[in-house]
Amino acid sequence: MASYSNFTDATKEDGSLQSICYKRGSLQLLDQRKLPLETVYLDIQDARDGWHAIRDMVVRGAPAIAIAAALSLAVEVFNMEAFNGTSDDAASLLGKKLEYLVSSRPTAVNLSDAVTKLKEVISKAAAVASEARSIFMAYIEAAEIMLKDDVASNKGIGSNGSSFLQRQQHNSNKLSILTHCNTGSLATAGYGTALGVIRALHSEGVLERAYCTETRPFNQGSRLTAFELVHDRIPATLIADSAAAALMKTGRINAVIVGADRVTANGDTANKIGTYSLALCAMHHGVPFYVAAPLTSVDLSLASGQEIVIEERSAKELLHSRGGLGEQVAASGIDVWNPAFDVTPANLIFGIITEKGVVTKTGMDAFDMKGFIKRALISCSV
Ligand code: MRU
Repeated sequence: MASYSNFTDATKEDGSLQSICYKRGSLQLLDQRKLPLETVYLDIQDARDGWHAIRDMVVRGAPAIAIAAALSLAVEVFNMEAFNGTSDDAASLLGKKLEYLVSSRPTAVNLSDAVTKLKEVISKAAAVASEARSIFMAYIEAAEIMLKDDVASNKGIGSNGSSFLQRQQHNSNKLSILTHCNTGSLATAGYGTALGVIRALHSEGVLERAYCTETRPFNQGSRLTAFELVHDRIPATLIADSAAAALMKTGRINAVIVGADRVTANGDTANKIGTYSLALCAMHHGVPFYVAAPLTSVDLSLASGQEIVIEERSAKELLHSRGGLGEQVAASGIDVWNPAFDVTPANLIFGIITEKGVVTKTGMDAFDMKGFIKRALISCSV
């Protein structure tokens, strides 16, 4: 069972917020259910602790859950006192635990993408290693690289998004951006995706204001995004989810930028519930709508968003305040439908901002994510 550690704050040496604190053999996750009022970290000792931390929303956000899952197993095997099995036994143990971790939340593809890549590392190591310890070490090193790579990808998303938006803006006015849910340092290994673009615009002096939605029912916007924006001293305004249409009508919003849990081959995007309404609203008001996501959020195995499994969460998140953690606010006996995500069709999305560049549409209704990734991989290998 995971236990709490008290920290005075959640700030890294570079001043940014840190949801995942990892050193080889030790993992602590900032308990995001307690933010913004308390800053406490949970000690994660094994895959079981990792599974519960993801399921119970201690850690959330597509990239963060993938990395937290991978590292929870890394600390478990690093600290294992004795393992008497062969290298094949070690590979099979890791494979089973990864299968268990992937069952914690279904919609974000980053988790299953991480599991697939880690399984490949395990089988390659098993093909050459004769000792269990070598398999474990290969796994640990691969999980650690995921942590490092995610921050680098997010910085790439931030700078690509910022340059693209500035090129699209035909006058010299600063930009105001509306975002939804939390896609910042807390939802990733650091910096963030959609919030990373907002950070980059701010640091380049071209952000007028960020607007964030509350993001009911779990309040990732009012509790977490607002916390990050205040922490970074970015000019920002919180709105109720239901105020988004009225805000867009004022003409104050230059772009909507959201994150993604899964982008399919045609660009349809699953993201936090309410994203689809924002995209419809943006289309109506002529505001460009962008998705900002690393390539680990792209699932080329699905042709369109119709195939995405949408997680449904407990009725308690709606019936009680603070996403189910506070007092009852809804009438007892009412039935509840609580999907955690919705799918925004590609025809409502203007561009998909990635660490390799901004994907724009090939026709009216679809993006060619496969072609884009192929070209990005070729240019990397040149
Ligand atoms: O339920 P959550 O809080 O995990 O949902 C998070 C989102 O929908 C984010 O927008 C998405 O995971 C991208 S985070 C960079």
